Amino acid sequence: MTTTTPLRSASASMTPPRGEAAVRRAFDVERVRADFPILRRQVHGHPLVYLDNAATPQKPQAVLDAIVSYYTEINANVHRGVHDLSERATTAFEAAREKVRGFFNAREAREIVFTRNATESINLVAWTFGRTNVGRDDEVVVTAMEHHSNLVPWQMLCEAAGARLRVAPIDDRGELLVDELERLLGPRTKLLAVTHMSNALGTVNAVEDIVRIAHAHGVPVLIDGSQAAYHMKVDVQALDCDFYAATGHKLYGPTGIGVLYGKAALLESMPPFMGGGDMIASVTLEKSTWNVLPYKFEAGTPHIAGAIGLGAAIDYITGIGFDAIGAHEAALLAYGTEALSSVPGVRLIGTARRKASVLSFVMEGVHPHDIGTIVDREGVAIRTGHHCAQPVMARFSVPATARASLAMYNTRGEIDTLVRALERVREVFA
Ligand code: ALA
Repeated sequence: MTTTTPLRSASASMTPPRGEAAVRRAFDVERVRADFPILRRQVHGHPLVYLDNAATPQKPQAVLDAIVSYYTEINANVHRGVHDLSERATTAFEAAREKVRGFFNAREAREIVFTRNATESINLVAWTFGRTNVGRDDEVVVTAMEHHSNLVPWQMLCEAAGARLRVAPIDDRGELLVDELERLLGPRTKLLAVTHMSNALGTVNAVEDIVRIAHAHGVPVLIDGSQAAYHMKVDVQALDCDFYAATGHKLYGPTGIGVLYGKAALLESMPPFMGGGDMIASVTLEKSTWNVLPYKFEAGTPHIAGAIGLGAAIDYITGIGFDAIGAHEAALLAYGTEALSSVPGVRLIGTARRKASVLSFVMEGVHPHDIGTIVDREGVAIRTGHHCAQPVMARFSVPATARASLAMYNTRGEIDTLVRALERVREVFA
């Protein structure tokens, strides 16, 4: 069963397969752009060319409207009041959870826990599932392409538990060596934590195969979906993953709202993460008992506006559809790969056969920060640095890269502007 919308590799032919052309015709990038008010602004006297989407994409008007409407019309706390506003806020908040459930095709809404971000989702698993299942001399397996958020919590857990962290290697293209990964799975492995898509390289991992392999060894799998979830359809039931972490702001929603999907039986078996209001069933001065899922993991007032905004973002993405988004972004990635490769001195870092929407690169003789600063003067926003993935930089023996990352509203014209700005960088450093 297909679990992700297939994205053509950067090296694939530019000729769209039959059917895709029709999707592409129906996808009107200018109409999409009109939905994102920030794209109309100028930066340093130039039209904004926003190519820092892997850090956070921009927000459509529908998301901004949903947040304003919550605060102007139904602002109240959730799960706590019998008054009209509180009931409306609770209904809207839980409706957002149901949208998230549908988006990831979880079986039940109680398998969707709202957090602050993917980092918190992963830490939740580390400090609940990890604390109860990982002991002395046990092992947790990660990969060499993880974002710090799917590496550091496991380092901390292993250190606290006296367990061992093992790391599956990647090759020079930035592809995961799945055979090597399988060799690391053994009777002491308590969890495999793997990214669906690398933020620094763009590599899309074959998570459907990886989950199958891990389960054959009896190892549960957490997938970090921060980067993947806004580029391709994710179906957690088809993937059969045990946990899937995602973040709202990368789904064109607001910051401060994250998602943890977990299989109900696993979530049931885990102790709470944080203590406080709403996560309890009863409290005496001596002892407390825990609320049902998912509230057991949602201590304190949640980010109500954030969840509602995320619900609106999901409606927006679903309205356009991953067939159209995937086809548009794959064509742009192919165009961008060719365009950047033609700039003298530019070398792409991350050339996996299966990748999406990330163009990480270095330029001979120029520090990435200088690239970022100079192209910014032309209105082009890219990220430079280690991208919270220092081990990836070490693997490719670079201190940092410049990274242009694509979203559904980007255009070929914007890539041309980036290329012209890079030519300007060359002139400055000639
Ligand atoms: N993880 C985000 C990035 O790659 C912040 O930029």
